[in-house]
Amino acid sequence: MLRVNDLKVYYKTPSGYIKAVDGVSFEVKKGEIFGIAGESGCGKSTLVNSLILRKPPMIHMGGEALLEGKDIMTLDEKEYRKIRYTKISIIPQYSLNALNPTKKIREIVWDLAKEHGYTDKEEIESKLRERLRMVSLSEQVANMYPIELSGGMKQRVVMVVSTLLDPKILIADEITSALDVTNQRIILELLYYFIKEEKIVDSIIFITHDIGLLDKIADRIMVMYAGKAVEIGPTEKIINKPTHPYTQLLLNSLPRLGINYEKERLQGIPGEPPALLKPPSGCRLHPRCPYATDICTMKEPEMIEIEKSHFVACHMYRG
Ligand SMILES: Nc1ncnc2c1ncn2[C@@H]1O[C@H](COP(=O)(O)OP(=O)(O)OP(=O)(O)O)[C@@H](O)[C@H]1O
Ligand SMILES: [Mg+2]
Repeated sequence: MLRVNDLKVYYKTPSGYIKAVDGVSFEVKKGEIFGIAGESGCGKSTLVNSLILRKPPMIHMGGEALLEGKDIMTLDEKEYRKIRYTKISIIPQYSLNALNPTKKIREIVWDLAKEHGYTDKEEIESKLRERLRMVSLSEQVANMYPIELSGGMKQRVVMVVSTLLDPKILIADEITSALDVTNQRIILELLYYFIKEEKIVDSIIFITHDIGLLDKIADRIMVMYAGKAVEIGPTEKIINKPTHPYTQLLLNSLPRLGINYEKERLQGIPGEPPALLKPPSGCRLHPRCPYATDICTMKEPEMIEIEKSHFVACHMYRG
């Protein structure tokens, strides 16, 4: 479906390049929910935003992203506009308030459809009604302005709008972060329903800093650290048998239900994430890694397949 090879995306600043995505490779298969997890600032949003549109200071420094065999990193703005919403659709982070406040939902949807060459208004209206029903919203919502909707409703409308033109890939960047637990669960269930039952989209990339959420929804997970992918594998392996020291730290830092914080301090990850203007040498985790040895400070670890479909970039697991 989507194959990303050695992708590098930097930000140009007066002090130098911020290496936000620095040689990341992965593939997203048809029918799967691919989760991406990692601490704030590790490059998750940069990675997926760069697939849609790059504007200064964001610069594509190298690598490719093949969507159905075609490299989408070489498209210009006009070509992008054609594939956006029809082949690849993104719900960007912080997009809850991105819906045009001066238009009703049906007008927002119609503008989008028109831009993509649709001429039959009734066809689009009926699709909108059907999709609103699918996300358990009343048809009346089509006549409402974004401001009339609650956060959970708005997120569902954003899902409907992003998938209305049946894109192959839907990218959801932190779409549950601003919601309460009930609404989070509803959104996760809807994503699952969209891909596994209704098959509205072929694949979903689901981004979250909360790796625990992925346990419930993702088929496979990629863990990122400081602009790099450090571990990729089936969800069950990543959650139950995390292999990279960073994945282990990330999972250990999750709050658990029933834990008594007076007796047991939450095990945070020691140290700070590195500044990506001048990332650490060798393995970027080495200043924070409990297992770091000399080689980790000098040589960057390669991604190695340690068991079928389970990849880890760490010197402890080299050949
Ligand atoms: N417009 C920009 N100009 C310069 N640097 C940027 C810009 N946007 C992001 N960055 C930097 O790029 C790095 C990656 O940021 P990004 O937003 O991709 O991380 P993220 O993993 O999505 O974080 P979060 O979990 O907080 O959403 C960070 O160091 C950030 O400061
Ligand atoms: Mg982000």
